[in-house]
Order: sequence, then C-alpha cells, then structure tokens
Amino acid sequence: MRALVTGGAGFIGSHIADALIALGHQVTIIDNLSTGRLENIPQGAEFFELDIGSPEVEDVFERGQFDLVFHHAAQIDVRVSVRDPLADLRTNIAGSVALLEWCRRYGVGRFVFASTGGAIYGEQEAFPAAEDHPTRPVSPYGVTKLAVERYMYVYHLEYGLNATALRYANVYGPRQNPFGEAGVVAIFCRKMLDGEQAYINGDGTQTRDYVYVDDVVRANALALNMEGFHILNIGTGRETDVLTIFDALNRQSGADLPRKHRPEPPGEQQRSSIDPGRALEVLGWRSEVELERGMKLTLEYFRRH
Ligand SMILES: NC(=O)c1ccc[n+]([C@@H]2O[C@H](COP(=O)([O-])OP(=O)(O)OC[C@H]3O[C@@H](n4cnc5c(N)ncnc54)[C@H](O)[C@@H]3O)[C@@H](O)[C@H]2O)c1
Repeated sequence: MRALVTGGAGFIGSHIADALIALGHQVTIIDNLSTGRLENIPQGAEFFELDIGSPEVEDVFERGQFDLVFHHAAQIDVRVSVRDPLADLRTNIAGSVALLEWCRRYGVGRFVFASTGGAIYGEQEAFPAAEDHPTRPVSPYGVTKLAVERYMYVYHLEYGLNATALRYANVYGPRQNPFGEAGVVAIFCRKMLDGEQAYINGDGTQTRDYVYVDDVVRANALALNMEGFHILNIGTGRETDVLTIFDALNRQSGADLPRKHRPEPPGEQQRSSIDPGRALEVLGWRSEVELERGMKLTLEYFRRH
C-alpha cells in the first residue's frame, strides 16, 4: 500500500512509519519539523518538509496516489492550545480538514487519525471511560480532536471515506520528547539519568492510563484495512498515579532521588483511564507491554541516547 504519514518525524508517527516500511508498504512523510526530528525519519521513506495546511500538500497527494493516510501531525501541547487557541485551531482543525479534502479529491480511501482518550472526555464520570462516555474537553486541544472526529464522520457519510479515530491514552516510549511539558515518563527518564531532580506536580496522586508506543503502532497497523467509521480507545483501562511512575523509574534508573513536589499547573485533569474493550472487539487489539517493562525499555533507550 502507499501510505502518507503526517507527523512522521515525531514520536509516534516515526514508529508507525518504521512499522509500515517493515511490512513492505511505501511510505511518504509530511512534517514541518516543529517538534519532529530528521533523524526519526526512517530510511526508505519519502520526506516532504511541509506544514499540513500549506497548498504544496496538494501536489504531494496528486503525485503520491495514496491508499491511506495516518494523520499524526498536530500541535500537541495542551498549554499552548490554551495560550494560543487560534494557532492550535489552524494546525489541528484547518490542517486536518485540508487533508480530508485532499483525500476526497485524490481518491484516498482510508484515513486513520491520532485522537486523544485523555483530553476528549474531560473529567471522567466513569472509570475506565468507554467511547460513549460524554465528551467534554476542557482545553482547546481536546476540542480540536473532537472536531476532527466529527469532520471524519461527515467525510465518511458524504464521500464514503473509511475513517478510524484512535483515541490514544498517554503514550510513552523511545523518541518521546523529554523536554516537553507532557510525557512524564520521558521527562523523568532524562532527569534521572542526568542526575537532576525530577519534580512531581502536586501530590502525585493524579492518574493516567499509560500505553506503550509499540502497542499504539500495532493498533495503527490493524486499522490499515478497516472499513466504515470507527472511534476506538487505545489504552490499557488501568490507572497509574505519578508517584508510582516516579518510584518505579527512580528504582530502575538507580537515581535514588527524594520525592520532591511542585505546584500542579492549573486545569490539570485529576484522573484518566479508558476502556479498550471496543478495540479488542473491532480490531482484535489489546495492549501487551506491561508498564514496568515499557518503562524499562524507555529508560534503556534514553540511556543509549
Ligand atoms: N503522545 C501522546 O500521549 C498522545 C496522546 C494522544 C494523542 N496523541 C496524538 O498523536 C499524534 C502524535 O503525537 P506525538 O506524541 O508523536 O507528538 P510529536 O510532537 O512527537 O509529533 C507531532 C509531529 O507533527 C509535526 N507537526 C506539528 N505541526 C505540524 C504541521 N502544522 N504540519 C506538519 N507537521 C506538523 C511535528 O513536527 C511532529 O513531528 C498527535 O496528533 C497527538 O495529538 C498523542
């Protein structure tokens, strides 16, 4: 198959590009390198340094004759989305709708989208949240992900696009940016390996559902042949608090840091976990990498880099 991966120089997108190439597919990547890195782009992938919203993207579609698009390019920082909702909207909504339009015009049959299972539900009423849990995002970032899912539904209804939104839990693993605001596993790994103090936001009892990047890649590979319109949670259904992550990485890295806390940023979600039952039913997917092992693999990666 000929696949376009947007955001393929980034953390998750580059792992997907690697896997697609290993499966024998032809891969083209569009990325503006705003957070992505050239060295993440696999050998054998065709690369265009472009913004997804730029008019040149049409030429890439015209020449590429893609069978499917894995859309991972996004402004991913919740706090940036609060500070500058218009810029966030331009990339995350307008950029995504532009891609849907090019899919329609150039006959691309499938679209797989990196949505979110964290920000889209807002503060949850039920744990873990299933896909039919109310969606009440409390950040512009979450609103953009929900909006794109709704656009995908319209393109499915109106133009027959096979569209799958994968609502990721908190993805972690090799290549995640350890200097960002989010991605606590990567941030703690780097600090602990560099002998710096890692700080726990608030009391550290806030929970997330952590899913290892290889599991996320497998979900994308399974979504490759999906027909129809689907929204699927890609998580473990388990909640883990920040204290547990801190203690495990502290032990595994040998850093032996004291627990130190700092004020929690305003608007931080307290608890999050998502029910992966539908993904098992529809895709035959379930997470396989246990958190302890995933953290060990991530730590090993950061030790080597
Ligand atoms: N990491 C997570 O826990 C998580 C959870 C839920 C959803 N997601 C989604 O998964 C996708 C990938 O996230 P990631 O964690 O790999 O982040 P990332 O920042 O590593 O990847 C995003 C990539 O998109 C590129 N990009 C950003 N804006 C662009 C634009 N306008 N045009 C072209 N390229 C652009 C960046 O350079 C980067 O390479 C995003 O859509 C994100 O919202 C991630």
